[in-house]
Amino acid sequence: MKKLFWILMASLLVGGFAIAERVEAQKTKGKTRAASTKLLMKGLIAANCGAAKKDLDAAEINWDDVTLHAALLNESGYILMDDGRCPDGEWAKSAKALQATSAALLAAAEKKDAAAAKAAFADLTAQSCKVCHAAHKGK
Ligand code: HEC
Repeated sequence: MKKLFWILMASLLVGGFAIAERVEAQKTKGKTRAASTKLLMKGLIAANCGAAKKDLDAAEINWDDVTLHAALLNESGYILMDDGRCPDGEWAKSAKALQATSAALLAAAEKKDAAAAKAAFADLTAQSCKVCHAAHKGK
């Protein structure tokens, strides 16, 4: 009986570590696709976020360019939820915020509404990048 107890405890412990490791792994890479989260951040998400900011800070806003970067940020919000990447609610919340705020940025760009575009961009960084990084980056 005692032996059975210890076998049970040991398997719970090993199982727990395996789950923790899986959660850690899924944040850095999905299940089947080749691109790591780090590369998606650098080449897709931060690249388009920085480019959109540059556009919005310019004296004369290039709206076609804002539209391009907002569209790619919008797709990124879905990619972050794909391929088993999402480990928890904070991740899901911030990825969905990326979908919603980039859609708002796209809508503002269609109307060439600078104030609305800047507000949507501020929401995007506050509700998406910051929220997910606080919970998951460098941990
Ligand atoms: C759903 C979660 C999530 C969202 C949303 C998110 N990030 Fe990240 N980001 C991460 C994680 C996790 C890492 C660390 C990846 C690693 O080092 O394996 C990271 C890393 C980064 C890095 C460092 C990349 C490198 O080369 O080391 C940059 C830059 C970055 N994110 C920018 C952004 C920007 C800008 C946004 C918002 C537009 C954003 N991220 C939104 C999860 C997220």
